[in-house]
Amino acid sequence: MIFKSILAGAVGLAAGLQFTAPAISQETVKVGLIATLTGPQAASGRQKVAGARLYMQLNGNMVAGKKIELIIKDDTGVADVTRRHAQELIVNDKVAAIAGFSLTPLALAVAPVITQAKMPAIIMTAGTSVITERSPFFVRVSFTLPQQSVPIAEWVAKNGAKTAVSLVSDYGPGIDAQNAFKMRFEEKGGKVLEQLKAPLANPEFSPFLQRAKDLKPDALFLFVPAPTAGALMKQVIDRGLTEANIKVIGTGDITDDDQLNGIGDSVLGLVTSHFYSAAHDSALNKKFVAEFKKANPGMRPNFIGVGGWDGMHAFYEALKKTNGDTDGTKLVDAMKGATWESPRGMMTIDPQTRDVIQDVYIRKVEKRDGELYNIEFDVVKQVKDPMHK
Ligand code: PHB
Repeated sequence: MIFKSILAGAVGLAAGLQFTAPAISQETVKVGLIATLTGPQAASGRQKVAGARLYMQLNGNMVAGKKIELIIKDDTGVADVTRRHAQELIVNDKVAAIAGFSLTPLALAVAPVITQAKMPAIIMTAGTSVITERSPFFVRVSFTLPQQSVPIAEWVAKNGAKTAVSLVSDYGPGIDAQNAFKMRFEEKGGKVLEQLKAPLANPEFSPFLQRAKDLKPDALFLFVPAPTAGALMKQVIDRGLTEANIKVIGTGDITDDDQLNGIGDSVLGLVTSHFYSAAHDSALNKKFVAEFKKANPGMRPNFIGVGGWDGMHAFYEALKKTNGDTDGTKLVDAMKGATWESPRGMMTIDPQTRDVIQDVYIRKVEKRDGELYNIEFDVVKQVKDPMHK
């Protein structure tokens, strides 16, 4: 009797196993996230991994009947390593898409690889305009520097600045930021006195800041990649530039939410333009910030964390649209024209350029509940990159 029921149980178990077998062999769709997790840009990788993971945690890992698996690689900020990871993810791991790219040269390094493999590559951070033109398989959910720099050029011209000096990191996004700023500031009747460029690696900003101070412009426009902002702003403060009669402005990279509290009260009142602030006033952003903090104690999301979130969203929605088909061309086509609410506000992937169209906010550093935030007080709606033809 007992034996019989054990047997019946075993048969039942076997039947149950058989029944669940398809679930066990369920198809997995892999996404390769190439992040910079060590070296001077490590803060960038930490943010985008946290943003991507949070998206999966809150939205589940099943899409169009397939299980999504994230494979994370550290490229250490070196382009050759990024390229090698991309090749291995494509050839060995058979990923359906790659994503990440903390710096412009790291994105550019994979362009030939993704074109040849017809592999979607979702840019979560890098911001030089030209990147998306280098392969039809790039889709950008971050931003471009000209998109951010034009609104602050307009704002500062409108607020009485007649002369300006710019200081940027000497590589793609810095050059883009500087040129776009100059173009719009001079269209509005201003004059850029000098365009200064500091090396990207091991930057010593002091001589450039001294030069800027000596030129006595009405405004000083700054851009460096976000993880370098703390070092730049410390030197800006030490050189007395926030106390000189010069209006210090920049793209939001220089007051990013990750570093802002560490920079300190000397930057209270500093005005920047950017697409994301942790203080952005929407229900979705409040939830995003709260969940991000809960999942990552001691961290606050910045625009790179949001890029990680939206990159996963772009992939999830594309895979839903293709009904689970992972063909690279079909996935990229599905992302073209996609529009959704991000913690940053509404965003769209331009169907022509595969670049992001989004609101750009003018913000001022203020203290709220004992923390420094970029408080949005003006907005330019749905800005396209001004450099794409
Ligand atoms: C870039 O290298 O394109 C880049 C990196 C960090 C930023 C902005 C642009 O904050």
